[in-house]
Amino acid sequence: MLEQRVEMQTPAASAETPRPAATALTGRGRFLSASACRPVDHPPVWLMRQAGRVLPEYRALRQKYSFLELVQTPELAVEVTLQPVRRFGFDAAILFSDILVTAEGLGQKYHFDESSGLQMDFALRSAADIARLDATALPERLQYIPRALRLVKSALGEQTALIGFAGSPWTLATFMAEGGGAEHYTRALALFRKDRKTYFELAEKLTAAVIAHLQMQIQAGVDAVQIFDSHGGLLAPTEFQEASGRWMMEIISALHASHPACPVIVFSLGTHGNWDDLLATGANVLGIDWRFPLADARRLLPGGIGLQGNLAPKLLSEATPEAVGAETARLLEVMRGRNGYIFNLGHGVPPAARLENIAALVETVRGFK
Ligand code: CP3
Repeated sequence: MLEQRVEMQTPAASAETPRPAATALTGRGRFLSASACRPVDHPPVWLMRQAGRVLPEYRALRQKYSFLELVQTPELAVEVTLQPVRRFGFDAAILFSDILVTAEGLGQKYHFDESSGLQMDFALRSAADIARLDATALPERLQYIPRALRLVKSALGEQTALIGFAGSPWTLATFMAEGGGAEHYTRALALFRKDRKTYFELAEKLTAAVIAHLQMQIQAGVDAVQIFDSHGGLLAPTEFQEASGRWMMEIISALHASHPACPVIVFSLGTHGNWDDLLATGANVLGIDWRFPLADARRLLPGGIGLQGNLAPKLLSEATPEAVGAETARLLEVMRGRNGYIFNLGHGVPPAARLENIAALVETVRGFK
């Protein structure tokens, strides 16, 4: 399938015409080529959390609908997914959804509002709570996701890539054990450290659920999937593999077996002591968070793996467009000539980001020669 997908590229250049594929690339072609470490005209760009509160058009919809209504109503999720693409012309769209839909699919519902934040109907407190989680109803409970994806896909056509996603089992466990957002995510850590057997039971269930969820998204037409391991950095480097890495590896093995052409991106936050474990997941692309120098990532990681990142998100809310442009250009220089680079932030867009800063970022990437 990947051959089909990248067909739009012309084959490698003759000496006189160094980059013939360049002008012909669509955003989707550029994103897929970079994901496969093939040459591109300039790196593709999309931003984690590109949809949402930063956009006035999103905030206008939120006046009328709750967060969950937006996520669960395909037509609305499509609109919110497309908003940042329309405004900034990103090379990839990411479905407007949340990592916690996997918990919902297992029977642990959640909601979000401004006053109470992220809350789940109950918290996982015991082995019995974990035993009650049931993956069999996941496809039925989450059917709004493939419905939204099919609609987004037909709106984007060949122009823009579409990314599906899920949380890593570890990151999902941290939220599910607390029963929502928390100041400190201590419960999953305690479970992992004190009752390894029960943690593994939970991780196995979450792994199966994430596989089902991501396969459903791939079948609905996404071009790539990203696993968010946003809480990987809560673990000691010596704990990472058992708590998080090995479960992502299992997920990726299953996806590569069922859908070998679909690239998998792993974004793990704050796990700079675990590059070997992250490589061992089998990810096609590794997200580099904003606290790790991109030049070091380039030096440390083998050429066959894509790298994605890693502008400091805070620059979008706190710096000027000139400073954002300058830092974007610096990162592009660091990665010059390295096939398989996808421009992104080193974590999500902060809600207070300035729109002119996002525009400066995108223009700088697009103008890179
Ligand atoms: O990237 C995108 O544009 C797609 C949408 C997306 C959301 N959540 C929408 C959202 C994605 C990819 C996510 C992933 C997600 N969700 C992660 C991993 C990425 C990361 O930031 O580390 C995590 C940890 C979550 C869990 C989650 N969902 C939290 C902690 C919160 C509340 C905190 C916050 O950011 O407000 C949410 C709610 C949420 N998910 C919002 C959005 C736009 C805010 C809803 C609103 O205010 O309307």
